Parts: sequence; structure tokens; C-alpha cells
Amino acid sequence: MSTSVEGRSILITGGGSGIGEGAARYLASRGARVTISGRRADRIQEVAQSIGPLCNWVEGDVCVASDRQRMLEAALAHGQGTLFGLINNAGITHHSGLAGLDEAGLARVMATNVHAPLFLTQLALEDLARSQGSVIFIGSVHTRLALPGRLAYAASKGAIVNASRVLAAELGARKVRVNCVIPGAVATEINAAVTGQDPQEAKAFFRNLAHLHPIGRIGEPEDIAQAMEYLLLADWTTGAVLDVDGGMGLGYTKL
Ligand SMILES: NC(=O)c1ccc[n+]([C@@H]2O[C@H](COP(=O)([O-])OP(=O)(O)OC[C@H]3O[C@@H](n4cnc5c(N)ncnc54)[C@H](OP(=O)(O)O)[C@@H]3O)[C@@H](O)[C@H]2O)c1
Repeated sequence: MSTSVEGRSILITGGGSGIGEGAARYLASRGARVTISGRRADRIQEVAQSIGPLCNWVEGDVCVASDRQRMLEAALAHGQGTLFGLINNAGITHHSGLAGLDEAGLARVMATNVHAPLFLTQLALEDLARSQGSVIFIGSVHTRLALPGRLAYAASKGAIVNASRVLAAELGARKVRVNCVIPGAVATEINAAVTGQDPQEAKAFFRNLAHLHPIGRIGEPEDIAQAMEYLLLADWTTGAVLDVDGGMGLGYTKL
């Protein structure tokens, strides 16, 4: 196993908030050269500046091919021509069951959570192969539990979990490893973006889910970031779907 991410170039999409921001802060604290991307330039710039010189930022939409190209170029520039890790973290949710499902909403969630990370991985492949690096996708506990009202989101995350396993099989010969993290509940803005909740309401929603986790608390971005660091370094781990969820995916129920 490689021993450290120090000096390694890592591209994190959606690094301006939540789990992506936490990953950027944690991996930079371990010496990695991280590049974060997102659509809100002010957010990613603020996060990058507060992390310091180990963090580069690039504004862009993962659903736009030319923006994905700029993300890769920014990470290569920051990594002195190398890319060791791609963390396909950017994602959106969609709240609806079957009755409320609309074509545009389903297309948006699939484009962001499935199409974009696959095409960014395709773009980065040669650079990842050169560094014998790895890709991390982000699934969801919605692939472990059947929660009504999150149909499109669960479908998109199910697709990316399966895609990560197929890619691990495909890319092993190039020495590019592909893994997937399944987070439990982490208090972020992801639901607020569709419900219009203010940040306090959004956090309260997540805090109320603590009882669903055997460990008795919701997750912190750093919990997920530690798992990412392991997957970035673990030379013989590929195709893993790693639950980092305080046990939420077990379907823990107190009778
Ligand atoms: N929080 C949880 O409990 C939880 C659980 C399981 C899985 N996840 C997954 O974890 C990942 C991170 O989500 P989070 O919870 O940290 O939520 P978040 O704070 O809303 O972060 C999502 C990030 O993705 C970026 N993003 C969304 N669409 C984008 C696009 N088209 N182009 C570029 N960036 C885009 C957003 O930035 P901009 O809006 O500035 O573009 C935002 O910074 C997602 O894949 C999510 O599905 C979260």
C-alpha cells in the first residue's frame, strides 16, 4: 500500500461544500495537492483560500464537457502534470416518488450523478493510468435502504455503484483502481437545494436521523474523507463498495 497522499494531485468535484469540502480539507491536511470544482465560483474560491496553497479551484459544471476538460487541466497544472486521484463527489438529489416524477428532473439527476462522473473518468483515464492512480465514486445509503420519495436519486446512485464495479474490472489491466464509498447521513446542503430549507433546518433534518445509525450519530465529512484516503492508497483494493455509514445501511430497527 502506498503510504501517503502527500504531494499527490487529487481532483474533487463538488468541493465547495459538504462531503467534497471535507475531503478537500482533510486530504490537503495530509499533504495532498487538491483541486476542487463546482458551479459557485465564490464558494470554491472561499474554500480553496481557507485551505491554502495546497488547494486549487476551478469553476465549472460537471455536466458540461468543456468544463470537465478545464477541471482536469486545472488538476494537472496543480499536480505538476500528474493526477493521482479523481473523486467524483458532485451530486444532486431529487425528491419525488413515481407519481411526481418528471422527465426533466430525472434527466438532471442522471446527468449529474451518472453521466458526468463517467465522462470525467473517461477524460482522466490516461493521466490516472500514468500515475497508477484511482477513482472514487460516491454511492448512497439509498442503495441499501428502500426509501419512498427518492426514486430518481436512488436509481442514479444504484447506477453509479454498479458502474464503479464494472470499471474496476475494465481498468484493472491499466492499474487504475476504482472504488465506491456509500455514506450514511451527513449534514450537508444536498436536500436544501431541492426543499428550499435554510442551512439550520437542513442540519436539523439530518440530526434527527441519528437514531437510524447503530453508532448513534450522523456522519461528519471527515468520516467519509478518511475512507477516501484509504481507498486512494490501498494498492490491492479495487471494485470495493465501502459502507461508511455508522451502520445505517444495515436497516437498524429497535423493536
Ligand atoms: N449528505 C449525505 O447524507 C449523503 C449521503 C450519501 C451520499 N451523498 C453524496 O455525497 C456527495 C456530496 O454531497 P453532499 O451531501 O456533500 O451535498 P452538497 O453539500 O450539496 O455537495 C454537492 C456538491 O456538488 C456540487 N455540484 C452539484 N451539481 C454540480 C454540477 N452540475 N457541476 C459541478 N458541481 C456540482 C455542488 O456545488 P455547486 O452547486 O456549486 O455546483 C456541491 O458543492 C453527493 O454525490 C451525494 O449524493 C451524500
